Amino acid sequence: MDLRTIFNSFGAREDYRQIIEEFNDFIKLYEMALLELQSDIEIIELEWQTRYEYSPFEHIKTRMKTPQSLQKKIERKGVPFTIEGIRDNIFDIVGLRIVTSFEDDVYKIYELLKGRNDLKIKRVKDYIKNPKPSGYKSLHLIVETELILSEGIRWVPAEIQIRTLAMDFFASTEHKLQYKYNTKELSQEIKDELFEVAQASSQLDEKMTRVRNTILID
Ligand code: GTP
Ligand code: MG
Repeated sequence: MDLRTIFNSFGAREDYRQIIEEFNDFIKLYEMALLELQSDIEIIELEWQTRYEYSPFEHIKTRMKTPQSLQKKIERKGVPFTIEGIRDNIFDIVGLRIVTSFEDDVYKIYELLKGRNDLKIKRVKDYIKNPKPSGYKSLHLIVETELILSEGIRWVPAEIQIRTLAMDFFASTEHKLQYKYNTKELSQEIKDELFEVAQASSQLDEKMTRVRNTILID
């Protein structure tokens, strides 16, 4: 690919090297934030496993937004193609997904995160209480994580998605069907069918919680 197309989209500047360096420094901050968040969460997980018999964590996944996906989002949202534009408008360059066994574990983890001083919760989107039209369920948090650098403290945004295994099964599979195998919009018939899968996943969660509650009471 001719890199000039990328560089030109930053504006008609000739000093490509400086632009690249600035952008690299900018992205490095997010990479550091990802490391920080991941280790914070892993420590919480380890602490739960050590201190209690039960840990609400099933597994954790992290990702950095790919440049392609970042570019698509910038274009879709009409965000200025500048470092400031990205910094002020895109909050999911760092993504962390926490998968739990039970639905109430999602809120248990949310409470844990709320209590931390090195995390600011900027926005909560509860798609468990208010699922998306697709049937998608998940608790989304836009947070800022504290980074302690030699130059001082920086707060870097990230998106944390918390959901159960059943919600994750639906979301991951539906996402694959939506984006990977099909470039055009899914038909209403398929959407309806997927919505039924989402309902079935929710029923699995409810059933599993009932079983657990029975065991806890016994
Ligand atoms: P984006 O601009 O895509 O980030 O959407 P938003 O700013 O409205 O955020 P929202 O919280 O709605 O969604 C963010 C992320 O949640 C998406 O990038 C997906 O990973 C996930 N998501 C949201 N809706 C769906 C859905 O219907 N199906 C699946 N599989 N994932 C979804
Ligand atoms: Mg920290």
